[in-house]
Order: sequence, then structure tokens, then C-alpha cells
Amino acid sequence: MPASRPTILVTGGTGRLGRLIVADLIGQGAAVRVLTARPAEARALLGTAIDLAEGRFEDADALAASLAGIEALLLLSPVSDTLASGQTAAIAAAERAGVRRIVKISGSTWTIDPPGATRSGDAHAAVETRLRASPLETVALRPNAWMQTSLGPALVRAAATGSLALPQGDTPVAFIDARDIAAVAMRQLLAETIAPGPLVLTGPRAVTGTELARLAAQGSSRPVQWAKLAWADQEAQLAAAGVPQSHRANIQRFAMLMADGAAAPVTATGAQILGRPARDVAAFAAETLAATG
Ligand SMILES: NC(=O)c1ccc[n+]([C@@H]2O[C@H](COP(=O)([O-])OP(=O)(O)OC[C@H]3O[C@@H](n4cnc5c(N)ncnc54)[C@H](OP(=O)(O)O)[C@@H]3O)[C@@H](O)[C@H]2O)c1
Repeated sequence: MPASRPTILVTGGTGRLGRLIVADLIGQGAAVRVLTARPAEARALLGTAIDLAEGRFEDADALAASLAGIEALLLLSPVSDTLASGQTAAIAAAERAGVRRIVKISGSTWTIDPPGATRSGDAHAAVETRLRASPLETVALRPNAWMQTSLGPALVRAAATGSLALPQGDTPVAFIDARDIAAVAMRQLLAETIAPGPLVLTGPRAVTGTELARLAAQGSSRPVQWAKLAWADQEAQLAAAGVPQSHRANIQRFAMLMADGAAAPVTATGAQILGRPARDVAAFAAETLAATG
């Protein structure tokens, strides 16, 4: 149990990004509760410094109980057909519970604008629209493609095979380190006032496949060439990882947009909020490849 009564509820706290946000909040001495459908796994993963509330967005009673006494809500859930309905229910429950602030992890800005760009972007847009209509303090974070999602595993495969297969090919992408997204989210949850959103967050520069292959070669001490990852191969990887068909079609749209350069623009928003440069992909590649031996 936390030392004091929890004031921040983190949803998605056992996930890839949520666990980083929980750790950052704990590091700042915040009293955190995590909403989870898997309390035993959450306890093993996140430790004893947090409070746990068992439930999902779809369980109204559990959601209301999880929000009791909470001042700030971190709203995060995976892409799914219920993302918009679940997160909208959580916003309404937070309003009823007297929560002061909501920080939402949204989609990458190029998946949201223009409307119709992607299915998940439209779902995030619907939640952002609901947030703007809320009387609470709210801010949406729109992070670019995370280094940890597909780039990290691609670098590890490149170290083994000498081929860095990328959905975007040689088109530049301003990947962001998920640790920077977590740090921005933590600050928005704890700051006296929140920044005007949506906050479009990217890495410090956009990198081509050529440059990523050079980093992979450096980190693995072997020649590495970049290659365009064919959709059939990417879909097979996603299917093997258990990604449902409906989301695989969404990811195909991501790949097409990234190959068109949609994820290349760089913003300084994260660096301004954090007061330091965003983490660079060169450091991420070196760290990832050193960890694989
Ligand atoms: N990856 C990227 O490059 C990228 C870029 C931009 C935006 N995003 C956004 O990031 C989000 C995904 O983050 P992530 O990868 O960290 O998530 P994740 O690891 O896939 O899942 C996060 C957690 O959400 C919880 N959850 C699942 N369904 C839920 C429900 N119905 N109600 C309440 N909680 C639920 C689960 O917790 P329990 O199992 O403990 O219940 C799960 O561990 C998406 O919204 C996506 O659009 C991702």
C-alpha cells in the first residue's frame, strides 16, 4: 500500500507506457492507484508502493470505486474497438467523482488529423472532443511512434540477421523514447497548471532507414542494411504476437502514412516541458543493442 491516500489514478498502468508513468510518479513521491483487471500480475510488476483497484472501464461500479478521492487521472488504454466508449465512460465517472484533472495519452497527431486518417485516430479524436467539453482541467498528449514499440525489436533482429526491416523504408521518422512521454505525462499530472494541449511530442530529430542501419551496425559490430518491411511480413509478425485482425488493418494504415513521411515532423514541445533535450534514437539503439549482448 502507498504511504498516503492515493491521489492519482493511472489506467493502463501495467502496460508498456503506463508502467513507466507509474515509476516516474512513485519517484516523485506521489501516491498512486492503478486500475487493473489483473491485480496479482500488477502487484508483481509494479511493487508494493502503489494501491490497486480491480476493474475495467466497462465495469461502472469498479470504475467509480477506483476514482474515489482521486485528484488526477491518467487516461490510457490500448487501441481496440472499445477505446472511445471505455475512455468516455472513464471521463464521465471522473467528473462525477470530483476529479480535478485528466491527462490523456492520445494517438500520434498524424493518425488523428485529418479526420478519417486512421480508425484508432478517430477513436482518440472522439475522446479528445469529449475532454474539451469537460469542465475539468484536461490535456491530451499526442506522442509520435515510440522507439520501444517496433524499432527496438527491429534493431535486435538486425543484429542477428544483418537486415533492418522497416515499414517506413528509408523515409525519416521522428521516433520518441517512451520514457520521455512518461516524463511529460508525470509532469502534467503533478504540475500546478497544465500546458495547453494537445501536446504533440516527438523525438529530437527524424531518422532515415540508412541512419538507423548505421546505428544498428555500430551497436552490433556487423554490417547492417535497411530494407522495406513488406506488409505481408509485418502482418505475419503482428499475427504471431497476437494482434487482432482489426488492429492489424489499422497498423497497415500507420505503415503507409509513415512511409509517406507523416511521422517525420519534429516538435520541441517535450523538450520545453522537460527542460532538457528529448532522448535521441542513437542512445536508444546503443542501449538496446548493448542489452542484447
Ligand atoms: N506504440 C506507439 O507507438 C503509440 C504511439 C502513439 C500513441 N499510442 C497509444 O498508446 C496506447 C497504448 O499504450 P500501451 O502500448 O502502453 O498499452 P498496452 O501495453 O497495450 O496496454 C495498457 C493496459 O491497458 C489496460 N486495459 C486494457 N483494456 C482496458 C479496459 N477496457 N479498461 C481499462 N484498462 C484496460 C491493461 O491493463 P490490465 O491488463 O492490467 O487490466 C493493459 O495492460 C494506445 O492508446 C495507443 O494509441 C501508442
